[in-house]
Amino acid sequence: MAAALLAACAGVARAEALPPLTDRPGDPVRGEALVRDMGRVSCLICHEIARLDEKDQGEIGPPLDGIASHLTEGEIRARIVDARRMNPDTMMPPYFSIEGLLNVAEARRGQTIYSAQEVENVVAFVLTLTEERGE
Ligand code: HEC
Repeated sequence: MAAALLAACAGVARAEALPPLTDRPGDPVRGEALVRDMGRVSCLICHEIARLDEKDQGEIGPPLDGIASHLTEGEIRARIVDARRMNPDTMMPPYFSIEGLLNVAEARRGQTIYSAQEVENVVAFVLTLTEERGE
């Protein structure tokens, strides 16, 4: 199942938008919990989300406030799955790809950062970020 999905995502490597990876709709509450979990390669290492109170949020990527008003669901999913499809030199980690990764710790080899359902949960959370900063 995971292997087929990974192959399907790689097959549209240059696509700008991806359809849902699972039949079960994403859960934004679980998605938020995942984003708050620094041990799971949190988006907050690089991005700010004003609504969350986590300290020391990152400033490497653009703030994600209001992002759901600028990108479609499929565009957001494509960036979480593998932002290298938009920018081959990006430093944003590919959350649902194992392509091109070298010398990954043995216990994690062949595994993606997020499962397909976790991608959907985080997409559902990011889709709640409709308000621009300062609103
Ligand atoms: C190691 C740093 C890093 C992490 C971790 C990271 N990103 Fe990014 N992200 C970036 C950078 C840098 C960009 C800007 C585009 C580029 O350089 O590729 C970006 C771009 C984006 C964009 C497009 C923004 C726009 O205005 O077009 C979205 C959406 C996004 N990231 C969401 C996420 C989400 C959701 C997570 C967590 C699941 C995450 N990112 C984790 C660094 C990161």
